[in-house]
Amino acid sequence: MASPLRFDGRVVLVTGAGAGLGRAYALAFAERGALVVVNDLGGDFKGFGKGSSAADKVVEEIRRRGGKAVANYDSVEAGEKLVKTALDAFGRIDVVVNNAGILRDRSFSRISDEDWDIIQRVHLRGSFQVTRAAWDHMKKQNYGRILMTSSASGIYGNFGQANYSAAKMGVLGLCNTLAIEGRKNNIHCNTIAPNAGSRMTKTVLPEDIVEALKPDYVAPLVLWLCHESCEENGGLFEVGGGWIGKLRWEQTLGAVVRQRNQPVTPEAVRDKWEKICDFSNASKPQTIQESTGRVIEILHKIDSEGVSQNHTSHSTSTATSGFARAVGYKLPSFSSSYTELESIMYALGVGASVKNPKDLKFVYEGSADFSCLPTFGVIIAQKAMMNGGLAEIPGLSINFAKVLHGEQYLELYKPLPRSGELKCEAVVADILDKGSGIVIVMDVHSYSGKELICYNQFSVFVVGSGGFGGKRTSEKLKAAVAVPKRPPDAVLRDSTSLNQAALYRLSGDWNPLHIDPSFASIAGFEKPILHGLCTFGFSARHVLQQFADNDVSRFKAIKVRFAKPVYPGQTLQTEMWKEGNRIHFQTKVQETGDIVISNAYVDLVPTSGVSAQIP
Ligand code: NAI
Repeated sequence: MASPLRFDGRVVLVTGAGAGLGRAYALAFAERGALVVVNDLGGDFKGFGKGSSAADKVVEEIRRRGGKAVANYDSVEAGEKLVKTALDAFGRIDVVVNNAGILRDRSFSRISDEDWDIIQRVHLRGSFQVTRAAWDHMKKQNYGRILMTSSASGIYGNFGQANYSAAKMGVLGLCNTLAIEGRKNNIHCNTIAPNAGSRMTKTVLPEDIVEALKPDYVAPLVLWLCHESCEENGGLFEVGGGWIGKLRWEQTLGAVVRQRNQPVTPEAVRDKWEKICDFSNASKPQTIQESTGRVIEILHKIDSEGVSQNHTSHSTSTATSGFARAVGYKLPSFSSSYTELESIMYALGVGASVKNPKDLKFVYEGSADFSCLPTFGVIIAQKAMMNGGLAEIPGLSINFAKVLHGEQYLELYKPLPRSGELKCEAVVADILDKGSGIVIVMDVHSYSGKELICYNQFSVFVVGSGGFGGKRTSEKLKAAVAVPKRPPDAVLRDSTSLNQAALYRLSGDWNPLHIDPSFASIAGFEKPILHGLCTFGFSARHVLQQFADNDVSRFKAIKVRFAKPVYPGQTLQTEMWKEGNRIHFQTKVQETGDIVISNAYVDLVPTSGVSAQIP
């Protein structure tokens, strides 16, 4: 049997531990070796009066059983004092169980200001005060466990408890954010909505039920959530009578009620109401990124193409049954023209510079050998995917907040024209099941007139929808190749500018993740990140410069795997190994040593084989 869960040496503060649930927690923690602070104001269940006997009795009980505990008689509103008791008695604070509570039940119109305020003060402000007092100590020791006590009355609503319901949902919101802020310091925060017989529930539940719903049935969940080996963070649990269940949010697929350049009307909302409220195929968003990502995706979609009336594509999960239907699906063909302006803008976006005389041909249309950088070939193909819509693939419903650009392959059959129109045909080549997610392999062929100019393969990773028993690999996938184990034959560096992403996005990737600090922070980054395909452009340029003297007609193909994000301003370092006509490479951020592009290569056309002319 696995070892029992112990709390030896851990200091646990339980608020409102003089009775009911809090008492049961305090006794259970102490029995398993914890040093316990038993806090209780000692008033009645409506919050009137105070006294020391409630806390003293529980301390006495713990000591009688051989445990260690001290009492604290302050209201939770004086959070600092509670934590001070823990520090004075035991020198640290590891666990805070916010449990103290009172009731002032009244139907809504009869709630007085005082009834409202005291409930908020004890439940919500009290939980805030106690937790804030402990927070910095927990951060310093890089460890902490916090528990919030919510209630089914808040989650579902309950007649006569408007004040209490509001406060109880307040602590849940508090917990949700603390779980995020504390994560990096190993501080976990979870919430329970208990059901137990106590003096509080005596007023609303029949006596035999009050008897049967023992607080002891709740305590084990509290101990587990507050144990150092428990990884749960940000969870919400209903618990009582020997049963425990976890709760989460559900979101309907919803409906788009706006069309490009059209106002949203109440009538459109009314007409889509059924669909807005239809929970079939509902998603379960877990983070604000998933939620906001959806909205941003819809914005993009509406603004780039208008919205089809039966839009159903933005769910968080992929419908596995539809995978077979999706493979082979052709996106609507897409054409886009460009001039020297776009080629130059792209070249500047991926770091071509007049400081290197050999780059002039990429940034000055008057150069005798003006050329379009080969990796510009991804730009129009990517537009084809974004506009034609990964979102429209039948049988797949993709949450774009969960989409990562995994790998990229580009092959040129001719150097790119210096300007012109490319027509792109995109097809879902395959779908792979990677367990933790799926990979959608998209092939995009780009033509100038009837002539095939380039072929792109995008590998798009969708987090969290794998495990459906599909195949893990595909013969259609262009494989990434590990770099040789010896030191690199050449290393080139380029510092990116703070404006690199701002410049690169002008080539057509408008994702706000790369420019908008608030969006980046919502997506979990400290600031906007560089486009992966921008780093790809830098690296390809390095290879071309080092091994092909910037001769674009020698560029055949490139394959990369995106490993980590880059921040504008960082220095990119491309490490290259020559093996015949294949140049293996990986790209690092010089400042951190992180590999950001891995298992990559460029294939060059042998010098003797160069015959293609720039059309
Ligand atoms: P209880 O009334 O038996 O225990 C609450 C304890 O908190 C009391 O000993 C009281 O003196 C103490 N307290 C009240 N105000 C305080 C303050 N300002 N500072 C310090 N201590 C204070 O109630 P019970 O049932 O054990 O409830 C514990 C928690 O669980 C409460 O937050 C309650 O809202 C919550 N809860 C309980 C449910 C149940 O079925 N018992 C249902 C849903 C939530």
